[in-house]
Amino acid sequence: MMFIWSWEFLYVEGLEEASCPCSWRYVADDSPRVTPGEPEACLHFALRKHLLSHNPSRTMAESSSDTKTLLRGLPSLKGPFRSVDLTSLPNTPREAFHTWLRDAIENNVKEPHAMTLSTVDEYGCPDARVLILKIVDHRGWHFAVKGDSPKGKQIIENAAVALTFYWSQLGRQIRIRGVAKGLPASERAADFLERPTASKVTALASDQSEILMDMTVLERNLQEAKERIEAQPDYIAPAWKVFAVAPNTVEFWQGATDRMHQRLRYHISKEDGSWNREKLCP
Ligand SMILES: Cc1cc2nc3c(=O)[nH]c(=O)nc-3n(C[C@H](O)[C@H](O)[C@H](O)COP(=O)(O)O)c2cc1C
Repeated sequence: MMFIWSWEFLYVEGLEEASCPCSWRYVADDSPRVTPGEPEACLHFALRKHLLSHNPSRTMAESSSDTKTLLRGLPSLKGPFRSVDLTSLPNTPREAFHTWLRDAIENNVKEPHAMTLSTVDEYGCPDARVLILKIVDHRGWHFAVKGDSPKGKQIIENAAVALTFYWSQLGRQIRIRGVAKGLPASERAADFLERPTASKVTALASDQSEILMDMTVLERNLQEAKERIEAQPDYIAPAWKVFAVAPNTVEFWQGATDRMHQRLRYHISKEDGSWNREKLCP
Protein backbone atom coordinates (compact mmCIF):
# COMPACT_ATOMS: atom_id res chain seq x y z
CA MET A 1 0.00 0.00 0.00
CA MET A 2 2.80 2.35 0.86
CA PHE A 3 4.16 1.88 -2.58
CA ILE A 4 1.29 3.75 -4.19
CA TRP A 5 1.99 6.81 -2.24
CA SER A 6 5.74 6.43 -2.45
CA TRP A 7 5.44 6.10 -6.17
CA GLU A 8 3.47 9.30 -6.39
CA PHE A 9 5.94 10.97 -4.12
CA LEU A 10 8.90 9.85 -6.12
CA TYR A 11 7.23 11.01 -9.30
CA VAL A 12 6.63 14.44 -7.84
CA GLU A 13 10.07 14.66 -6.37
CA GLY A 14 11.64 13.62 -9.64
CA LEU A 15 13.65 10.87 -8.04
CA GLU A 16 15.10 8.24 -10.21
CA GLU A 17 13.24 5.04 -9.69
CA ALA A 18 10.74 3.13 -7.59
CA SER A 19 9.69 -0.47 -7.53
CA CYS A 20 6.55 -2.15 -6.30
CA PRO A 21 5.97 -5.43 -4.45
CA CYS A 22 4.09 -6.60 -7.56
CA SER A 23 7.21 -6.06 -9.65
CA TRP A 24 5.95 -2.93 -11.36
CA ARG A 25 8.74 -0.52 -11.74
CA TYR A 26 8.78 3.16 -12.51
CA VAL A 27 11.85 4.83 -13.93
CA ALA A 28 12.17 8.58 -14.26
CA ASP A 29 14.82 9.91 -16.60
CA ASP A 30 14.76 12.24 -19.60
CA SER A 31 11.62 10.53 -20.86
CA PRO A 32 9.81 9.04 -17.87
CA ARG A 33 8.67 5.50 -18.63
CA VAL A 34 7.40 2.45 -16.92
CA THR A 35 8.51 -1.12 -17.24
CA PRO A 36 7.77 -3.76 -18.26
CA GLY A 37 6.66 -2.02 -21.38
CA GLU A 38 3.31 -0.72 -20.23
CA PRO A 39 2.01 2.72 -21.11
CA GLU A 40 1.77 4.95 -18.08
CA ALA A 41 -2.05 4.94 -18.10
CA CYS A 42 -1.99 1.16 -17.80
CA LEU A 43 0.38 1.35 -14.90
CA HIS A 44 -2.02 3.68 -13.17
CA PHE A 45 -4.80 1.21 -13.81
CA ALA A 46 -2.73 -1.66 -12.53
CA LEU A 47 -1.76 0.24 -9.45
CA ARG A 48 -5.36 1.08 -8.70
CA LYS A 49 -6.30 -2.56 -9.06
CA HIS A 50 -3.43 -3.46 -6.81
CA LEU A 51 -4.60 -0.94 -4.25
CA LEU A 52 -8.15 -2.28 -4.27
CA SER A 53 -7.13 -5.92 -4.13
CA HIS A 54 -4.94 -5.28 -1.11
CA ASN A 55 -7.47 -3.14 0.73
CA PRO A 56 -10.99 -3.19 -0.66
CA SER A 57 -12.14 -0.59 1.84
CA ARG A 58 -10.12 1.93 -0.11
CA THR A 59 -11.74 3.40 -3.19
CA MET A 60 -10.60 4.58 -6.54
CA ALA A 61 -10.97 8.08 -5.19
CA GLU A 62 -7.62 7.57 -3.50
CA SER A 63 -5.69 7.73 -6.73
CA SER A 64 -3.64 10.85 -7.23
CA SER A 65 -5.87 12.22 -9.98
CA ASP A 66 -8.78 12.26 -7.56
CA THR A 67 -6.83 13.70 -4.65
CA LYS A 68 -7.62 17.13 -6.02
CA THR A 69 -11.34 16.34 -5.84
CA LEU A 70 -10.96 15.06 -2.30
CA LEU A 71 -9.08 18.18 -1.26
CA ARG A 72 -11.52 20.53 -2.97
CA GLY A 73 -14.33 18.86 -1.03
CA LEU A 74 -12.79 19.65 2.34
CA PRO A 75 -14.13 22.68 4.18
CA SER A 76 -11.75 25.52 4.97
CA LEU A 77 -12.44 28.50 7.21
CA LYS A 78 -16.12 27.57 7.39
CA GLY A 79 -16.64 29.19 10.77
CA PRO A 80 -18.79 30.63 12.03
CA PHE A 81 -16.18 32.89 13.56
CA ARG A 82 -16.80 35.61 16.05
CA SER A 83 -16.60 39.11 14.63
CA VAL A 84 -13.57 40.90 16.08
CA ASP A 85 -12.13 44.38 16.01
CA LEU A 86 -8.40 43.77 15.84
CA THR A 87 -7.62 47.39 16.64
CA SER A 88 -9.03 46.77 20.11
CA LEU A 89 -6.14 44.38 20.80
CA PRO A 90 -3.57 45.61 23.37
CA ASN A 91 -0.68 47.86 22.36
CA THR A 92 2.02 45.21 22.46
CA PRO A 93 2.06 41.89 20.62
CA ARG A 94 2.93 40.07 23.83
CA GLU A 95 -0.24 41.27 25.54
CA ALA A 96 -2.24 40.64 22.37
CA PHE A 97 -0.84 37.10 22.21
CA HIS A 98 -1.91 36.47 25.81
CA THR A 99 -5.41 37.71 24.97
CA TRP A 100 -5.71 35.35 22.02
CA LEU A 101 -4.08 32.44 23.85
CA ARG A 102 -6.66 32.76 26.64
CA ASP A 103 -9.42 32.77 23.98
CA ALA A 104 -7.92 29.65 22.44
CA ILE A 105 -7.78 27.83 25.77
CA GLU A 106 -11.33 28.88 26.69
CA ASN A 107 -12.53 27.63 23.31
CA ASN A 108 -10.87 24.24 23.80
CA VAL A 109 -8.39 24.65 20.96
CA LYS A 110 -6.26 21.51 21.03
CA GLU A 111 -2.60 22.13 21.84
CA PRO A 112 -2.77 25.90 21.39
CA HIS A 113 0.88 25.99 22.50
CA ALA A 114 1.99 23.97 19.46
CA MET A 115 3.69 26.21 16.92
CA THR A 116 5.70 25.81 13.75
CA LEU A 117 9.30 26.96 14.03
CA SER A 118 10.78 27.89 10.65
CA THR A 119 14.52 28.15 10.17
CA VAL A 120 16.91 28.12 7.24
CA ASP A 121 19.69 25.64 6.75
CA GLU A 122 23.29 26.26 5.77
CA TYR A 123 22.30 26.47 2.09
CA GLY A 124 19.60 29.05 2.77
CA CYS A 125 16.84 26.46 2.28
CA PRO A 126 13.85 26.72 4.61
CA ASP A 127 13.05 24.05 7.17
CA ALA A 128 10.15 23.85 9.60
CA ARG A 129 8.77 21.69 12.39
CA VAL A 130 6.29 21.86 15.23
CA LEU A 131 7.48 22.68 18.76
CA ILE A 132 5.86 23.50 22.06
CA LEU A 133 5.84 27.06 23.34
CA LYS A 134 7.20 27.23 26.88
CA ILE A 135 6.89 30.82 28.07
CA VAL A 136 6.28 34.28 26.64
CA ASP A 137 8.05 37.07 28.50
CA HIS A 138 9.86 40.35 27.84
CA ARG A 139 12.55 38.40 25.93
CA GLY A 140 10.10 36.75 23.62
CA TRP A 141 8.56 33.38 22.81
CA HIS A 142 10.54 30.49 24.39
CA PHE A 143 11.10 26.95 23.19
CA ALA A 144 13.47 24.13 24.19
CA VAL A 145 15.42 21.91 21.83
CA LYS A 146 18.49 19.76 21.52
CA GLY A 147 21.25 22.12 20.43
CA ASP A 148 22.85 19.42 18.27
CA SER A 149 19.62 18.69 16.35
CA PRO A 150 19.22 20.11 12.83
CA LYS A 151 17.09 23.01 14.09
CA GLY A 152 19.57 23.72 16.90
CA LYS A 153 22.47 23.88 14.44
CA GLN A 154 20.45 25.96 11.99
CA ILE A 155 19.66 28.55 14.65
CA ILE A 156 23.31 28.78 15.68
CA GLU A 157 24.19 29.49 12.01
CA ASN A 158 21.31 31.86 11.38
CA ALA A 159 19.23 33.11 14.27
CA ALA A 160 16.51 34.63 12.06
CA VAL A 161 13.43 32.45 12.59
CA ALA A 162 9.65 32.49 12.31
CA LEU A 163 6.98 31.01 14.56
CA THR A 164 3.44 30.25 13.34
CA PHE A 165 0.37 29.31 15.34
CA TYR A 166 -2.88 28.17 13.74
CA TRP A 167 -6.01 27.70 15.81
CA SER A 168 -8.56 26.27 13.39
CA GLN A 169 -11.56 26.34 15.75
CA LEU A 170 -11.20 30.12 15.91
CA GLY A 171 -9.91 30.64 12.38
CA ARG A 172 -6.87 32.41 13.80
CA GLN A 173 -3.25 32.50 12.80
CA ILE A 174 -0.37 34.29 14.51
CA ARG A 175 2.90 34.85 12.67
CA ILE A 176 6.03 35.92 14.47
CA ARG A 177 9.30 36.84 12.77
CA GLY A 178 12.35 37.56 14.84
CA VAL A 179 15.70 36.52 16.22
CA ALA A 180 16.28 33.48 18.43
CA LYS A 181 18.60 34.05 21.37
CA GLY A 182 20.00 31.26 23.55
CA LEU A 183 19.13 31.63 27.23
CA PRO A 184 21.62 31.24 30.11
CA ALA A 185 22.68 27.86 31.52
CA SER A 186 20.53 28.32 34.63
CA GLU A 187 17.37 28.52 32.50
CA ARG A 188 18.42 25.61 30.33
CA ALA A 189 18.97 23.57 33.49
CA ALA A 190 15.63 24.59 35.00
CA ASP A 191 13.80 23.65 31.83
CA PHE A 192 15.53 20.27 31.56
CA LEU A 193 14.86 19.40 35.20
CA GLU A 194 11.15 20.12 34.74
CA ARG A 195 10.87 17.53 32.00
CA PRO A 196 9.32 14.12 32.71
CA THR A 197 11.91 11.36 33.12
CA ALA A 198 11.06 9.71 29.80
CA SER A 199 11.59 13.01 27.95
CA LYS A 200 14.95 13.53 29.69
CA VAL A 201 16.02 10.01 28.78
CA THR A 202 15.12 10.43 25.10
CA ALA A 203 16.79 13.81 24.96
CA LEU A 204 19.98 12.27 26.33
CA ALA A 205 20.01 9.05 24.36
CA SER A 206 18.71 9.91 20.92
CA ASP A 207 20.76 11.53 18.16
CA GLN A 208 17.67 13.39 17.07
CA SER A 209 16.95 13.31 13.31
CA GLU A 210 19.99 11.14 12.54
CA ILE A 211 19.29 7.99 10.52
CA LEU A 212 18.27 5.13 12.81
CA MET A 213 20.80 2.48 11.87
CA ASP A 214 20.39 0.04 14.71
CA MET A 215 17.51 -0.14 17.17
CA THR A 216 19.55 -2.19 19.63
CA VAL A 217 22.11 0.61 19.89
CA LEU A 218 19.34 3.12 20.58
CA GLU A 219 17.80 0.81 23.18
CA ARG A 220 21.16 0.43 24.88
CA ASN A 221 21.65 4.21 24.89
CA LEU A 222 18.16 4.68 26.34
CA GLN A 223 18.89 2.20 29.11
CA GLU A 224 22.19 3.91 29.93
CA ALA A 225 20.52 7.32 29.91
CA LYS A 226 17.77 6.05 32.20
CA GLU A 227 20.32 4.70 34.67
CA ARG A 228 22.21 7.96 34.56
CA ILE A 229 19.10 10.07 35.23
CA GLU A 230 18.08 7.77 38.09
CA ALA A 231 21.55 7.91 39.63
CA GLN A 232 21.95 11.68 39.08
CA PRO A 233 18.50 13.33 39.15
CA ASP A 234 20.14 16.76 38.74
CA TYR A 235 21.98 15.76 35.59
CA ILE A 236 21.44 18.20 32.69
CA ALA A 237 21.88 17.07 29.09
CA PRO A 238 24.81 19.19 27.86
CA ALA A 239 23.17 19.81 24.49
CA TRP A 240 19.90 21.08 25.96
CA LYS A 241 19.09 24.61 24.83
CA VAL A 242 16.32 27.08 25.48
CA PHE A 243 15.79 29.91 23.01
CA ALA A 244 13.65 33.03 23.18
CA VAL A 245 12.49 34.57 19.93
CA ALA A 246 12.62 38.35 20.19
CA PRO A 247 10.08 39.47 17.58
CA ASN A 248 10.49 42.13 14.91
CA THR A 249 6.98 41.66 13.59
CA VAL A 250 3.92 39.84 14.90
CA GLU A 251 0.79 39.46 12.82
CA PHE A 252 -2.63 38.57 14.17
CA TRP A 253 -4.89 37.09 11.50
CA GLN A 254 -8.58 36.47 11.93
CA GLY A 255 -9.96 34.37 9.12
CA ALA A 256 -13.39 35.01 7.60
CA THR A 257 -15.55 32.62 5.62
CA ASP A 258 -15.98 35.20 2.85
CA ARG A 259 -12.16 35.59 2.79
CA MET A 260 -12.31 39.18 3.99
CA HIS A 261 -9.77 38.24 6.63
CA GLN A 262 -8.74 40.80 9.20
CA ARG A 263 -5.04 41.30 9.76
CA LEU A 264 -3.11 43.44 12.19
CA ARG A 265 0.67 43.55 12.17
CA TYR A 266 2.82 44.91 14.97
CA HIS A 267 6.31 45.99 14.03
CA ILE A 268 9.02 47.22 16.30
CA SER A 269 10.53 50.68 15.89
CA LYS A 270 14.30 50.57 15.36
CA GLU A 271 14.60 53.97 17.05
CA ASP A 272 13.04 53.37 20.43
CA GLY A 273 11.83 49.77 20.48
CA SER A 274 8.18 50.82 20.67
CA TRP A 275 5.50 48.91 18.76
CA ASN A 276 3.64 50.31 15.77
CA ARG A 277 0.61 48.68 14.23
CA GLU A 278 -0.80 48.51 10.75
CA LYS A 279 -3.78 46.80 9.18
CA LEU A 280 -3.03 44.51 6.23
CA CYS A 281 -5.13 43.66 3.21
CA PRO A 282 -6.83 40.27 3.39
C1 LIG B 1 2.92 18.69 18.82
C2 LIG B 1 4.42 18.54 18.69
C3 LIG B 1 5.24 19.06 19.65
C4 LIG B 1 6.62 18.96 19.56
N1 LIG B 1 7.41 19.58 20.49
C5 LIG B 1 8.74 19.58 20.35
C6 LIG B 1 9.57 20.35 21.25
O1 LIG B 1 9.08 21.09 22.12
N2 LIG B 1 10.91 20.29 21.08
C7 LIG B 1 11.48 19.53 20.09
O2 LIG B 1 12.71 19.53 19.99
N3 LIG B 1 10.73 18.81 19.22
C8 LIG B 1 9.37 18.82 19.32
N4 LIG B 1 8.59 18.13 18.42
C9 LIG B 1 9.27 17.33 17.37
C10 LIG B 1 9.71 18.26 16.22
O3 LIG B 1 8.60 18.63 15.43
C11 LIG B 1 10.79 17.64 15.32
O4 LIG B 1 10.31 16.43 14.77
C12 LIG B 1 12.10 17.34 16.03
O5 LIG B 1 12.40 18.34 16.98
C13 LIG B 1 13.25 17.21 15.03
O6 LIG B 1 13.39 18.43 14.31
P1 LIG B 1 14.71 18.83 13.49
O7 LIG B 1 15.11 17.62 12.71
O8 LIG B 1 14.27 19.95 12.62
O9 LIG B 1 15.76 19.26 14.48
C14 LIG B 1 7.20 18.24 18.47
C15 LIG B 1 6.36 17.70 17.49
C16 LIG B 1 5.01 17.86 17.58
C17 LIG B 1 4.13 17.31 16.48
